[in-house]
Amino acid sequence: VQESAEDHPVEAGIGRRQLAGLFAAGAVGALVGGTVAASASADRAPAPNSASLGDVGARTIAFRGEHQAGIVSPYRPQAHGWVAAFDLEPGVTRDGLRDLLQRWTQAAESLTAGRSLGAPDDAVVAGLGPAALTVTVGFGPSIFGKAGLAVSARPEALASLPAFAGDALDPALCDGDLGVVVAADDPVVVAHAARVLGRLAAGAAHLRWQLSGFNAARGVGSEIATGRNLMGQVDGTNNPQPADVDFETKLFAGSSAPAFMRGGSYLVVRRIRMLLDNWDGLAQAQKERFVGRRLSDGSPLTGSGERTPVDLGARGADGSLVIDANAHIRLAAPSSNGGAAMLRRGFSYVDGPAQGLLFLAWQADPRHGFIPVQQRLAGNDLLHTVLRHESSAIFAMPGGTGAGGYLGQSLLESL
Ligand code: HEM
Repeated sequence: VQESAEDHPVEAGIGRRQLAGLFAAGAVGALVGGTVAASASADRAPAPNSASLGDVGARTIAFRGEHQAGIVSPYRPQAHGWVAAFDLEPGVTRDGLRDLLQRWTQAAESLTAGRSLGAPDDAVVAGLGPAALTVTVGFGPSIFGKAGLAVSARPEALASLPAFAGDALDPALCDGDLGVVVAADDPVVVAHAARVLGRLAAGAAHLRWQLSGFNAARGVGSEIATGRNLMGQVDGTNNPQPADVDFETKLFAGSSAPAFMRGGSYLVVRRIRMLLDNWDGLAQAQKERFVGRRLSDGSPLTGSGERTPVDLGARGADGSLVIDANAHIRLAAPSSNGGAAMLRRGFSYVDGPAQGLLFLAWQADPRHGFIPVQQRLAGNDLLHTVLRHESSAIFAMPGGTGAGGYLGQSLLESL
């Protein structure tokens, strides 16, 4: 991994050699090639009571860089996440939207570095540290046509998602003008950042919906193991890996994208309820047939070991496919979808009696990522018989911002 101090340097808690090991194992969400620095950054201001911060609390992920923080990170996904959509208040001007993005940028930069905002609620996170806080912000399709943003400025890739077979969407949990993902290894840090963003939006935008989720706590289990979802499956194995030559082009929009999206990524959010009573009622062999991988260690049914390449053509002694024709990993695989790929990096959730996956997929273009894959999965995927998609949104998360800039600046100032 080549180093650059600019893009999301790792500033505490883990060494470069250790990171290289993580990437070699392919178990960490991902990291853009050429973007890790393990040295302490000089501009990181001490958090309140930093002398007593624990290892988990002290971790920082730099806010500024070529890509927004929170899409790819050197660590496994943070333990707590908050995903929200905001709608602009009627009549908000382009200046109003610009001011909001500037306020959010400023606050995100401070909070992610562990600096206090000088606000009355600073005490909420006193002594906690940033805990690898990331704040990632973007635009929904509906914002174009509002706040002086021309409809024609909307990237073609940012169309509302089509309806998929079996969708059971709650409109109150869908879409939105602005999308925000906040993640950290501490739930108080996440709640505080969410509250700060909401407070700073006042007068310009209001919360449309919010969804919270979690992963295994930092320090519990192996840092390099792929996480498990609430069905117990090892989930994330065949994500694009930083070592892939086309990793960047799968994840981030390139030079043909509108200026504000260069280095940006499209985020698809789906809250997917797991019908766990039905799932629990299945025999283990059926569960593994639905996915095409073993529950014990995530290995494909065609081989041993999580990382063994999947052999979709393999047949058993009776001539039938070892990985079912409608198994999740067959239907979702890039080879079944014209190369369509995405980085899946979500959170589990609990909402009353419901549990499931707050599915987040990042990609350079959803038309060559989530959309064709979900079209194939919906109505065919064995796994989808025990899933229900209840929430849906898409956002264009612009490229990162350098010193002094604000998120979305080239969109706001290009028209
Ligand atoms: C609650 C819903 C879902 C669950 C529990 C689930 C679970 C899994 C599991 C266990 C794997 C195998 C391990 C891995 O490679 O990560 C997997 C693979 C994958 N899933 Fe899902 N998944 C869900 C929804 C979706 C959706 C909605 C999409 C996209 C539309 C998707 C796309 C993929 C892809 C692209 C792979 C990798 C396939 C490959 O190349 O081998 N999944 N999923």
